[in-house]
Amino acid sequence: MNAIRLGDIAPNFVAESTQGEINFHEWLGDAWGMLVSHPADFTPVCTTELGTMANYGDEFANRNVKVAAISVDPMVSHMKWIKDIEETQNAEVSFPLIADEGRKVSELYGMIHPNDDATMTVRSIFIIAPDKKVKLILTYPASTGRNFDELLRVIDSLRLTQYEMLATPANWKKGDDCVILPSVSNEEAEKMFPKGFKEVKPYLRLTPQV
Ligand code: BEZ
Repeated sequence: MNAIRLGDIAPNFVAESTQGEINFHEWLGDAWGMLVSHPADFTPVCTTELGTMANYGDEFANRNVKVAAISVDPMVSHMKWIKDIEETQNAEVSFPLIADEGRKVSELYGMIHPNDDATMTVRSIFIIAPDKKVKLILTYPASTGRNFDELLRVIDSLRLTQYEMLATPANWKKGDDCVILPSVSNEEAEKMFPKGFKEVKPYLRLTPQV
């Protein structure tokens, strides 16, 4: 299986989850998607991550993002662990956890890195646009919990730059100035960006986020 790359259609799959059987593409519908693998149930970092994802539920919903978690643990384990997550992280887990005991999805998405650990998924994230194309791929080791504020920031950038001839600079966050794509001429930029723009260099032009 070739590695999934940006711009690829996210492979579809049918899998069992804590919310019943999921046909991934049908489940996504017209929403954005975030598929998040974690190494193992009943482990400390994973517990904090899934609790954080649950507590950020409104943030994801406001951005039209559907979230699913996945590991190779069985359904019975997921079901029991959800109770621990809710108890310890003061959270309500409203997204599905996929039980991928057969590793079908984990292998399809390259979430098992055998030279790191042959038995568990690493911390992978795939962000998928409504057209089902993969827009972001991240891989973290088991020892490092992910920053979900950064994921919201990336989603804000992806949603903003999807239709506009804009990109977002280093450490950008919602509301900050954006960068005009180099392929846009100054004449075009004047028409496209009603708030105007500042030319720092011919290739570095900033415009307020509308
Ligand atoms: C954790 O979630 O804490 C964890 C999981 C697997 C290996 C190391 C840490």
